Amino acid sequence: MLLAFFGLPALSALGLFVGARSAMAADPGAAAYVGPAACLKCHGSTNGLPSMEEPSGARIGRSLPLSSQVLVKAFAVSAHSATLIDTRTSPEKIVADFGDTSPLQRNQIAFAIGAGRGEQRYCDASLRMLPHRWDARMKKWTGEPVVDASKECLGCHATGFDATTRKWSSPGVTCEACHGPGSLHARDGDKTKIVNPRNLPLERQAMICGQCHSDGRDPAKVHPFPAGFRPGNDLTRHFVLAAQPRPGPKYSEMLRSKHAEMNVLCTDCHDPHGPVPGTKHHLLKPVNDLCGECHVEIVMGQHAPKAPADATCATCHMPGGSHQFKKPAKK
Ligand code: HEC
Ligand code: HEC
Ligand code: HEC
Ligand code: HEC
Ligand code: HEC
Ligand code: HEC
Ligand code: HEC
Repeated sequence: MLLAFFGLPALSALGLFVGARSAMAADPGAAAYVGPAACLKCHGSTNGLPSMEEPSGARIGRSLPLSSQVLVKAFAVSAHSATLIDTRTSPEKIVADFGDTSPLQRNQIAFAIGAGRGEQRYCDASLRMLPHRWDARMKKWTGEPVVDASKECLGCHATGFDATTRKWSSPGVTCEACHGPGSLHARDGDKTKIVNPRNLPLERQAMICGQCHSDGRDPAKVHPFPAGFRPGNDLTRHFVLAAQPRPGPKYSEMLRSKHAEMNVLCTDCHDPHGPVPGTKHHLLKPVNDLCGECHVEIVMGQHAPKAPADATCATCHMPGGSHQFKKPAKK
């Protein structure tokens, strides 16, 4: 199938082989992980890349132009780019305070997990979690279970992580976590050799985010992440979602929403590449504008006349950040 596919670029242009193409890009024998620096060689400069503006017929909700320049700038400051930090080379990215009473010392830490928006956790050079985490909101240390991060964490906090060798291709959620291993594409920029999530069926696009933003275990029940999953794959074959998910993981929550039923999915609301000026959480637009783009019939003053002045659609429909987008009970 691989050879046949290579000979059929015309068919792939018709979109007939989208599935086959992503399976090809996902085959580790065919393509390897190269790390974001290799992608940025072409996508980080004005190297004669086409501007890649939105095509006509773009999905509702997606309204920002997405040039390589824009996405690369956003990615560099995204939480994704810093979900695993080698603190021996980037000690400045540790957000915790250390003092005489601090239960951990800097020199015990080899890696930080989490960009430090809410909290940051630490492990030593053997990838064992250290027994205290830093709560960045309360500015204090709290207890942390001592587990093996390679078994419990790194599948979602690093890219190209191999749980058997305990090695990753690049720390953090980088280009290839969402586009698949890119060595073949990076040779000459052939666009048939990389996964563009936009060309996948909608369900499979959301699964790319779902490989990490969900609660479940791999089928062998060894890891709480889908070891071996590649963008384009069917997540259900690599991951068994918890029947009663804990609150938090957005994909697990979203699957139980009317939005998912209607195919309103992650990238209808979020920019996958990073923050958008003027919004939080990589949202494409400020909350009320975003929701209002589809829910045009809803006028805040009539719909929620008693809402506090600073209320947004999320205040009532996303309590605690919930992605079930429920209708609250009428008061
Ligand atoms: C040698 C230069 C080069 C390198 C290195 C490179 N790209 Fe590209 N990439 C291109 C060019 C050129 C295009 C646009 C092709 C077109 O529109 O015809 C492209 C397009 C893409 C697309 C869109 C494909 C589509 O179907 O529309 C994605 C996604 C992408 N690149 C991701 C990556 C990732 C991830 C890496 C690193 C693993 C990477 N690129 C490395 C040159 C490069
Ligand atoms: C390989 C795992 C992985 C994949 C794939 C992934 N994420 Fe994330 N995402 C994370 C982790 C880990 C964090 C937490 C970052 C931190 O705070 O350290 C995160 C954080 C975020 C945030 C919070 C940013 C903020 O500033 O509040 C958003 C939004 C987000 N992801 C959306 C997405 C979307 C949309 C997709 C799919 C297009 C996606 N993610 C794919 C692991 C992943
Ligand atoms: C299934 C994938 C997955 C696994 C496994 C996982 N994480 Fe995460 N982690 C995420 C995602 C996704 C986020 C962002 C959540 C959000 O903002 O909704 C995150 C966020 C974080 C944050 C930042 C939280 C904040 O509020 O700033 C830390 C710290 C963290 N994880 C540490 C760990 C540790 C330690 C482990 C292992 C014991 C672990 N994670 C296992 C996916 C995962
Ligand atoms: C969290 C997931 C995620 C990460 C990380 C990510 N991308 Fe993307 N990328 C996407 C998604 C999803 C799309 C399709 C967006 C859409 O539907 O418009 C995309 C689209 C693209 C495109 C095509 C743009 C177009 O207009 O067709 C390029 C090029 C690209 N990404 C390059 C990169 C590079 C280079 C990096 C690393 C610096 C990167 N991406 C990191 C998820 C990601
Ligand atoms: C209908 C729009 C919509 C969809 C679909 C959507 N989100 Fe969100 N998301 C939001 C809004 C709005 C917020 C900010 C909520 C708030 O202000 O409390 C948010 C917040 C987040 C955060 C930040 C949570 C935190 O507190 O740090 C993450 C992570 C996230 N979304 C991931 C995802 C992922 C992954 C998907 C797909 C599985 C997704 N979202 C689908 C609208 C959406
Ligand atoms: C891309 C279009 C789109 C965006 C953006 C969007 N929605 Fe929706 N929403 C829909 C569709 C389609 C439905 C299902 C039909 C309906 O009930 O109107 C829906 C339904 C709902 C429902 C009813 C759920 C139920 O159980 O009946 C709520 C509540 C809701 N959306 C809230 C929001 C909020 C809050 C936001 C912003 C964070 C948002 N929506 C953004 C398209 C969208
Ligand atoms: C003060 C709380 C509050 C705020 C703020 C709020 N809503 Fe609602 N919304 C509700 C309640 C309560 C219902 C359920 C009404 C019912 O059961 O008839 C609802 C119902 C809905 C529905 C389901 C369709 C319908 O009319 O019953 C949608 C869609 C919706 N809201 C979207 C939005 C959007 C978009 C925003 C922001 C512009 C928003 N809501 C702001 C409380 C709120």
